[in-house]
Amino acid sequence: MGKVQTAGSVLDCYTQLCRSVRLQKKDLIFPIFVSEQRGGFSLSERNGIGMPSLAKIAPKDVIQHVQKIVDQGISSVIIFGIPNKRDVSASSALYSDGVVQNSTRKIKKEFEGLVNIITDVCICQYNLSGHCGLQTRSHKGTGRIIDNDSTLALLSKIATSYAESGADFVAPSSMMDGQVIQIRSALDSRGFKDTKIMAFSAKHASSLYSPFRMTAYTKHINNYYTIIDKSSYQVGYANPRQAIREIQADIQEGADMIVIKPSLAYLDMVSMIRDSIDFPLVVQNVSGECAMIKAAARNGWIDEEEWKVNSIVAMKRAGAHSIISYFTMDIAKYLDD
Ligand code: PBG
Ligand code: ZN
Repeated sequence: MGKVQTAGSVLDCYTQLCRSVRLQKKDLIFPIFVSEQRGGFSLSERNGIGMPSLAKIAPKDVIQHVQKIVDQGISSVIIFGIPNKRDVSASSALYSDGVVQNSTRKIKKEFEGLVNIITDVCICQYNLSGHCGLQTRSHKGTGRIIDNDSTLALLSKIATSYAESGADFVAPSSMMDGQVIQIRSALDSRGFKDTKIMAFSAKHASSLYSPFRMTAYTKHINNYYTIIDKSSYQVGYANPRQAIREIQADIQEGADMIVIKPSLAYLDMVSMIRDSIDFPLVVQNVSGECAMIKAAARNGWIDEEEWKVNSIVAMKRAGAHSIISYFTMDIAKYLDD
């Protein structure tokens, strides 16, 4: 197969867009997966998906990894923890020497003032079900349902523990109702008034999270890891009004930034929210979105560099202030500052 045609070099394409849309390194947030499990490599690599940005980092390599990120001029990271041990009540998320707590302390100590540390707050990497909430028996009989309120208490404790370790932002991603207000009041009452909340407010249920789940979840959860149905708490793609209500609620509850995810198929919402609500808005360019570009490029169907840049610039153009992306490091080289 011949080389794919592109509309110009990546740089040309970028400079043209750059006339009115200016993407900067400070707009980018790089995700890191810290894993306590031995053999710290990701399932996605083992399966040949080949997305190095989704690789798991061993705790001992965290500083070295963040140093590379800082050397590229990137100043924000979001940490996802992969613990050694899962249990029904997600207890390893609360350990004061848990994977996120330890990583946060190390990064804070080494890179104070240089790196914004954002910690993902959820329980699905720590419990047995892979769901983002604790489960209880349904009143009607056999099934299990997500127990919103007991989950809120747990999320508040996790967020407080991350704040104690030095997180600048806690980022609740479980989509439980009331998670922002509960976490805000827990932080305030424990003396963490300055810890900010980045709320994953409009998190749409999507198979585009599969490569993330392949990395962050493990065989512990019955090989169900890629096909967990989270549609009872994540938003449906055909329900923009609900997504807007979730965003408004989180702002009312005290969020400092709100996140819409996935990104590319939701840029209409980004632009709508940007025009109607003056509030810091983040998009998450999720794992499956990166995988689609990688896979097409690998087949020789599209130009990978062009589309990494083009898709991220589109998010900025639509109105996102910040972008969480696995492509952060790949595109930093095209940006001056
Ligand atoms: C879980 C979580 C998910 C992602 C981030 N946090 C997966 C899910 O909701 O099942 C997906 C991110 C990505 O695909 O890059 N709280
Ligand atoms: Zn979760």
